[in-house]
Amino acid sequence: MGRVFSGVKPTSDVPHLGNYIGAFRNFVATQDVHECLFCVVDLHAITVPPWDPKDLNRRTRRLAASFIAAGIDPSRSTLFVQSDVHHHTDLAWILTCISRMGELSRMTQYKDKSRGQDQQGVSVGLFSYPLLMAADILAYQANLVPIGDDQRQHLELTRDLAERFNREFGETFPVPDALIAEHGARIMALDDPTRKMDKSTEHPQGVIWMDDDEDTVRSKVSRAVTDSGRDVVYSRDKPAIANLLEMFSLLAGQSIPDLETRFTGKGYSDFKSALTDTIVEYLTPFQVRFAEVLEDTDQLDEILDQGAERAQRLASSTMKQVRESIGLRRP
Ligand code: AMP
Ligand code: TRP
Repeated sequence: MGRVFSGVKPTSDVPHLGNYIGAFRNFVATQDVHECLFCVVDLHAITVPPWDPKDLNRRTRRLAASFIAAGIDPSRSTLFVQSDVHHHTDLAWILTCISRMGELSRMTQYKDKSRGQDQQGVSVGLFSYPLLMAADILAYQANLVPIGDDQRQHLELTRDLAERFNREFGETFPVPDALIAEHGARIMALDDPTRKMDKSTEHPQGVIWMDDDEDTVRSKVSRAVTDSGRDVVYSRDKPAIANLLEMFSLLAGQSIPDLETRFTGKGYSDFKSALTDTIVEYLTPFQVRFAEVLEDTDQLDEILDQGAERAQRLASSTMKQVRESIGLRRP
């Protein structure tokens, strides 16, 4: 049994279906096998200024509720908010001092997010973002990190930093492995299968939010881009249908070949209608549970307080070791 850590940014009112398939579903599966910590990474959400403090606060609570609604059981897994545990930022600073400009400049997420902006005006937080993520993971001496495909490079950097620290200051951190599902780690936007489904609001037709109602899902799925032809087959040169098939297969627990057989000769419209039903079947229980959890504010606060306390204990034991090995006065 290893220790699992993962985080999600509170940068939208609810997660989208890509987050759910690529991340939350795997979180729930790992909690049956491993000791897990799941974190609402609010300090990562402020790397793109300016932010609205009221939004941040509301989204933090809603994301915590989403973890529970998706099936995270706070009596088995530690669920907490990043900024409640100061060790993350302490360790991030120490990692900042052993990391290099070159390795951070190579991060594709930074390049994507800062593209088109005047370099002199880009937030330093956006640049050093991966170091805070590395600190999140290493503070708990985690072994496994369930993530979507877009976080692969950040995890590589975390591994490099763990190895560097261990080499320079003595064995301290396990070198964590990414847990990236073979399928569903990169769900693409419905309106453009070359772009991943993401939280940006520029393409509202491309994303299914976990609180979308049935009519909204039906409308988005029916307008989803499809490829030429009318056969429901999975192939590299049919990226739009391949994406929809992948979503369908993961949500319905049916293999892609079985789905191809099921829709032989039926065309896109029947396929999309069945996909809508499958998505709605998934969203409905999530939405019911989400509303219940949000309603009971005292209980949610208690869960997050207890989670923070436990996380604090674990991280403080790592930090004692770190502080001592780098020569700070008080371990
Ligand atoms: P974020 O919303 O960027 O904080 O991402 C939370 C988690 O969802 C991370 O593990 C991401 O890798 C994962 N994720 C985000 N977008 C997608 C997507 N389109 N498909 C699959 N996983 C995703
Ligand atoms: N960077 C991740 C994302 O954008 C979120 C994240 C922050 C994270 N800290 C983490 C994921 C630690 C895994 C482990 O999705």
